[in-house]
Amino acid sequence: MNIISIGYIGFETSKIEQWRSYGPEVMGFQIAPSPSQDPDSLYFKMDDRRNRITLHPGKIDRLTYIGWEVRNRMDFIAAIEKFKQHNVDITIGDQELCERRGVKELIRFKDPVGYQHELFYAQKWTPRSFVPGRAHGGFICDERGAGHVVLMIPQESPELTDFLRNVMEFEWYGWGAGKGKTGFWRSKLNDKTSHDIAYGVAPGRMGVQHMGIFVEEVRDVGETYDLVRKKDLPLMMTLGQHTQDPHMSFYHFNPSGFAFETITELEPWHGDPFELNPEIMSVWGHEIVGPIIGPSVGAPEEVYPEQFGQ
Ligand SMILES: [Fe+2]
Repeated sequence: MNIISIGYIGFETSKIEQWRSYGPEVMGFQIAPSPSQDPDSLYFKMDDRRNRITLHPGKIDRLTYIGWEVRNRMDFIAAIEKFKQHNVDITIGDQELCERRGVKELIRFKDPVGYQHELFYAQKWTPRSFVPGRAHGGFICDERGAGHVVLMIPQESPELTDFLRNVMEFEWYGWGAGKGKTGFWRSKLNDKTSHDIAYGVAPGRMGVQHMGIFVEEVRDVGETYDLVRKKDLPLMMTLGQHTQDPHMSFYHFNPSGFAFETITELEPWHGDPFELNPEIMSVWGHEIVGPIIGPSVGAPEEVYPEQFGQ
């Protein structure tokens, strides 16, 4: 399945007004005009695509969909065939949904844990349309997309591993450092970063733990860090450099209670000729100064009551 990256991602939030100031002022996102079909939602641009991160008003702060981008229409058709071969339930996005997401065509499906995914090609794009919400050097999107996500799952799931490997055709990257309960995966066509998505076991709970956002310059990490400190926003981890990736980053909590990891690449990713077994997560920094799992993670019946509630 010729997936490039997470092209767009959507969350539901009870704090949309906080996001309206936080997005541009802290993260440097640009507020894009909301499509006429969805005037109450907040659409953020990170580059010349029409939207990368969308916040939809709702009662619960949670991830609502991950939009995987395939290269083109032919890859989209092939992906549909693949889902059918594996008896995955897919629904075809109607014209209205495609307009909301700003794409030519999309399908919707769930992974075996119950997270909602979408797959699309051809998102709306206007060259030189991106103007950051504050002075900012810009985000690395293009082939990297909106960034990476780390999701929690209530228990280990062999069905999920089978789905990611054999249906989505992701590349396995490895386990995270520490107790080894988080598995990292990369889209087939991603040769720029080690992972697009990771699933970690948090017994009895699910939800988004963090999202990684790539910025162009060290300065953008530093200036975001300064703003987070100045506004006294809660930190998860201080500045640091990861062991497995040549990344410098820090983690703080956004209004929805999951972390944004603001990342700069110190050098290009070296690839993964063999699987590493890191004994430490970071070579320096990344001091844990807040909870590792925020309020966005909870019992499945609390986070997704319509799916797991009584
Ligand atoms: Fe990350």
